[in-house]
Amino acid sequence: MNSNKQIHLKRQAGEAAVRFVESGMVIGLGHGSTAIWALRLIAEKLRQGLLTDIVAVPCSENVAADARQESIPLTAFTDIPSIDLTIDGADEIEPHLNIIKGAGGALLREKIVAQASRREIIVADGSKMVEQLGTRCRLPVEIVPFGLASQVHYLEKLGADVLLRRTVNGELWRTDEGNFLADCRFGPLVEPQRLAAALQQRAGIAGHGLFLGLATDLIVADESGIHHLQANTLQETKL
Ligand code: A5P
Repeated sequence: MNSNKQIHLKRQAGEAAVRFVESGMVIGLGHGSTAIWALRLIAEKLRQGLLTDIVAVPCSENVAADARQESIPLTAFTDIPSIDLTIDGADEIEPHLNIIKGAGGALLREKIVAQASRREIIVADGSKMVEQLGTRCRLPVEIVPFGLASQVHYLEKLGADVLLRRTVNGELWRTDEGNFLADCRFGPLVEPQRLAAALQQRAGIAGHGLFLGLATDLIVADESGIHHLQANTLQETKL
């Protein structure tokens, strides 16, 4: 698919999710080249007065900067117990709406926001759909700096081919929380829940990109149109 077409599909998916945003909501703003279209349309609707009283929780410092530039009111997310609705992207999505996230490096904040959200709408172009998680993407794992090599060893023992994410200068890349990222190729995941449990129980692993059972909705745009799937019924409607 040529990239202009893909950008168009990402835009369609991101913008389609904005129909579920209502005035007065606390909204989560996801990171990435699909969710940005939702952010821009929300900003436009705020400017036009079609949406009012929105407060947003950004999933990364980059998104916070984008939101500030668009004059979307932000909260630091220290005293808000829950979020009404979040719109975020994904890297791989399987048919039951379990997903891999984190190619953009914002997985920990994205998961904190997703778990606090009553509704987590994932937006994507059709290229993100897979039959099994791990088919195409590496799984990002966020690691606290202390004991880095021991965590790489642990991930390798779990079966991963590990690449530490680096900047263009070759330095270890840091997340917004100051942690490192290990991009792990496990291959197609037969039991993602088991892998998630093994990652979660390890001290020093701050987060991972398996978002299992967290998406409530998927809006995916492909050549055949814009499709909306709800995770609880897996029923599909065309938007
Ligand atoms: C950020 O850490 C990721 O989880 C993104 O949401 C994901 O990589 C999707 O990005 P695009 O919408 O840019 O493909």
